[in-house]
Amino acid sequence: MNTYKLAIVGATGLVGRTILKVLEEKNFNNFEYTLFSSSKSAGTKLKFMNENYTVKELKENSFDEHFDFAIFSAGAETAKKFAPIVASKNCIVVDNSSAFRMDDDVPLIVPEVNFEDIINHKNIIANPNCSTIQAVIVLKPLDDKFKIKRIVYSTYQAVSGAGKLGLEDLENGRINLPKPLIKFSHPIYDNCLPQIDIFLINGYSKEEMKMINETRKILGHPFLPITATCVRVPVSNCHGESINIEFENDFSIEEITDILKSSPGIIVLDNINNEEYPFNTIVNGHDEVFVGRIRKDFSRKNCLNLWVVADNLRKGAGTNAVQIVEKLIKSF
Ligand SMILES: NC(=O)c1ccc[n+]([C@@H]2O[C@H](COP(=O)([O-])OP(=O)(O)OC[C@H]3O[C@@H](n4cnc5c(N)ncnc54)[C@H](OP(=O)(O)O)[C@@H]3O)[C@@H](O)[C@H]2O)c1
Repeated sequence: MNTYKLAIVGATGLVGRTILKVLEEKNFNNFEYTLFSSSKSAGTKLKFMNENYTVKELKENSFDEHFDFAIFSAGAETAKKFAPIVASKNCIVVDNSSAFRMDDDVPLIVPEVNFEDIINHKNIIANPNCSTIQAVIVLKPLDDKFKIKRIVYSTYQAVSGAGKLGLEDLENGRINLPKPLIKFSHPIYDNCLPQIDIFLINGYSKEEMKMINETRKILGHPFLPITATCVRVPVSNCHGESINIEFENDFSIEEITDILKSSPGIIVLDNINNEEYPFNTIVNGHDEVFVGRIRKDFSRKNCLNLWVVADNLRKGAGTNAVQIVEKLIKSF
């Protein structure tokens, strides 16, 4: 069995730590690992794969020694600065940030949906936004069968999506600590904030435009009409999404349910008579995308409503990145 060298950049963050957990669960032990962070957390000791690792500071010469893969979860600025250097050294970078997602020569990959797009990558592969990943896993098989005409997204996104500082703001609010906010502009505890990331000149937030543009790229429909409202809600983990989909073709709820049940990476939890549907504490810690509240939108022809929940740190980030590496290795 080949041994690969894998760098985890941003190992001390929420996504980085989730990646370590996923690698342990998958028993990825034919790898040599090096863990990186910024100077702030360099020197941190992390127990991983039954060994003690000391996190190193990421520097420009960190990749002078050869690595086969680097999973970056350290923000867009860090990725923009370091990923091209790393990629030029014949190391495949899987980047969790938004830095390269919309670049024409960077594949934007969800393994269950469009792994074939990875062909001809130039050593940088982008992981989509967490809220996009869970949506396209559900949308792709339905699009294949009924042809999507329009999508309306409304998201209910957990604070872990804003990283460790976001979680701290929620926790400080919950225990009523008189501490200034460190991540959000307004208190997130007891509030729903209808702004994730900066607003753009078209009146949409950057997060909303990420969902729109990334969905189009992954589904291969560059002009698909899509609108989105993205909201941060005061829950720790897992994003919920109401997705309203208009199709070209008619469908029955039974057909939709059967397709979703037989598609990879999806769990259907939909029994309203028993009050069964996905919610955060059920989905937390799982890699699958959960779907419920499957029903027709009676206000419009060929229209469907879904409620979709996934663990944003796992399938929305860490698990997806690890699956990309796993599939690449299988394809060698
Ligand atoms: N959270 C999610 O649900 C989610 C989902 C999809 C994608 N993402 C993306 O994944 C990335 C990480 O998110 P996160 O939630 O894990 O954030 P986080 O908890 O704030 O962690 C950020 C990580 O990046 C490291 N870092 C920051 N600047 C660095 C630098 N100059 N060099 C090396 N490492 C640096 C930090 O190291 P220190 O400990 O030293 O500060 C930390 O390990 C972001 O790009 C985010 O957009 C997050």
